[in-house]
Amino acid sequence: MSAARKILVTSALPYANGSIHLGHLVEYIQTDVWVRFQKMRGHQCIYCCADDTHGAPIMLRAEREGITPEQLIDRVWHEHKRDFDGFHVAFDNYYSTNTPETRHYADLIYTRLREAGLIDVRSVEQFFDPDKQMFLPDRFVKGECPKCHAKDQYGDNCEACGAAYQPTELINPYSAVSGATPVRKHSDHYFFRLSDPRCADFLKEWITPPQVQAEASNKLGEWLSGGLSDWDISRDSPYFGFEIPDAPGKFYYVWLDAPVGYMGSFKHYCDRSGVNFDAFWKPGSDAELYHFIGKDILYFHALFWPAELHHAGFRTPTSVFCHGFLTVNGSKMSKSRGTFITAESYLKHLNPEYLRYYYAAKLNGTLEDIDLNLEDFSARVNSDLVGKYVNIASRCAGFISKRFSGQLGPIDNAATADFQSAFSEGVIAQSYESRDFARALREIMRLADAANLYIAEKKPWEMAKQEGREAELHTVCSTALTLFRDLTLYLKPVLPILAAEVESFLNIAPLNWSEDWAPLPAGHNIREYQHLMARIDPKQIAALVEENTQNLAPASEASPTRHAEHQQHAIQPIAETIGIDDFGKIDLRIARIVTAGPVEGADKLLHLELDIGEEKPRQVFAGIKAAYAPETLVGRLTVMVANLAPRKMKFGMSEGMVLAASDERGGPFLLAPDSGAQPGMRIK
Ligand code: MSP
Ligand code: ZN
Repeated sequence: MSAARKILVTSALPYANGSIHLGHLVEYIQTDVWVRFQKMRGHQCIYCCADDTHGAPIMLRAEREGITPEQLIDRVWHEHKRDFDGFHVAFDNYYSTNTPETRHYADLIYTRLREAGLIDVRSVEQFFDPDKQMFLPDRFVKGECPKCHAKDQYGDNCEACGAAYQPTELINPYSAVSGATPVRKHSDHYFFRLSDPRCADFLKEWITPPQVQAEASNKLGEWLSGGLSDWDISRDSPYFGFEIPDAPGKFYYVWLDAPVGYMGSFKHYCDRSGVNFDAFWKPGSDAELYHFIGKDILYFHALFWPAELHHAGFRTPTSVFCHGFLTVNGSKMSKSRGTFITAESYLKHLNPEYLRYYYAAKLNGTLEDIDLNLEDFSARVNSDLVGKYVNIASRCAGFISKRFSGQLGPIDNAATADFQSAFSEGVIAQSYESRDFARALREIMRLADAANLYIAEKKPWEMAKQEGREAELHTVCSTALTLFRDLTLYLKPVLPILAAEVESFLNIAPLNWSEDWAPLPAGHNIREYQHLMARIDPKQIAALVEENTQNLAPASEASPTRHAEHQQHAIQPIAETIGIDDFGKIDLRIARIVTAGPVEGADKLLHLELDIGEEKPRQVFAGIKAAYAPETLVGRLTVMVANLAPRKMKFGMSEGMVLAASDERGGPFLLAPDSGAQPGMRIK
């Protein structure tokens, strides 16, 4: 065994505004398998991660929910941690970017870059939402595509024709936050001067193997030869993030402090464990540093991040390990098909180790996308794990318990030779090391086939019935269990929980990879065999897909048959038929809620002021207090009946009515128009 290595490993920090789904898990499972392998080899390997908590989307979501960003990120942190624990992703530290440690290193990096003359201040013209009093990120401006004239396109590119443009080029732009028409406004922004020759010269050297995979290197080379633009690293208030030390009202753009979160999480770990931070991060450090990431964030990790580190006096990553994207049944994950599967819902139906195994069987250390084909998933888990691997123990353990009072006998050395040489040649270990888990598992299943063949040829169940073959039976079963032990060792990075159960059943110390090979010794006592793993029942998969379809598809999208199956509720009779003229008498308008507040003496009502484009907002009393906190309504668009006769109420005049849905299943649910609608528009 070579000397122990010092290794720091990270996975990308998931955004704190969404749930963990099976796509994310491609990365966290992959990283976890690799880390567990390194630990089993006896290396010091530290796995750090955190939630990525800053940015406008998180700020706006918290506002919509009527809570502070701190409350939102705290809640999501617990959800994420629960999901990762559920899949046995064993971080040494799972932290947050909204922490003093991350702020400290963000400030340090920023200050050093500024001292190196790599920060510029420039005035930038941007869209500003006059209602919300905020600058709008590109994704929060929408409008008509300047090329193909598709409506409701984002400010950075058109989903209809693929064109990329500046938000200011959109036709009839509007704010996706408030619906208001944005105005152009100037503001000072801080730039990291990536166009400086010092950056280009450094990166040209850096973006080669082994720092990045060959395929990634080509991509990065293309970007670099196109010339790097300076990178805007500041955002104006209001923003949820860290304020820049010498620039009041300016905040670091979330992607400036996000990778610094790797350092922040590691520092927090160091402070608890006594590990030396600088020994891992100073230039020339003998520690290894690896970032596992998806291909969508390669630009940030292989250009911006190393350039920042290098010019701020830190070491750069040993390698950035980039992987592809998950598809389910051959397509992008889809909410309407039920294949946008959250970690939480998966765990309600299926064993996490099934998915760990399947992903590992597909991952090969390249940037290729990986497909989770749900039929193949069941077939593979059932045939490999249950049919081949677990089967070895279940066919032999009973004889040891019943016939030899749980005690192992001598070993058939010829049968273990293959396993011994696999161990000493290290094909499996090399495959894990190079993140070609698919190859490792192919090799492991080849050995499992050999073990099953041995059992099939020896037929212990026949020996057990024939007199005078006790010794043979003892040897065959003991040999098979040694082979089973070896397979468990090999599978342990992927299946840590199953491996722990096997260690307990075989009554052995935790398996690791750093000792020499030896068989289970004769005379060793094992415990009674308990069933180790069940097959996947297709019904479980169907239920999982069903749950994710139901949860996420809007009710109107559900197909009639599905609807009927799950309907425990009788729909109220439809009202008497009317003609279009009758309907036309109702003047429905888009209204913006300008103010919302409680009404003294009325515990069900809220007092709303509604802008429908008239000179003065209308006042309406709405019975929605139980369902909505008033502050969450301000700024929202909804629908109102504008020509309802005014009604005098105890509290004042009600000048219209807002529309909401409800029945015994819940509500009231206020109606909301698609983005783009403007106050006063008629609904017809
Ligand atoms: N917050 C940033 C990362 C900051 S790292 C300093 C981010 N977050 S994310 O939640 O969108 O994604 C986290 C990781 O999961 C990324 O590496 C991303 O590529 C990966 N994946 C997210 N969806 C994925 C798939 N569908 N398939 C495979 N990986 C995916 O990006
Ligand atoms: Zn277009």
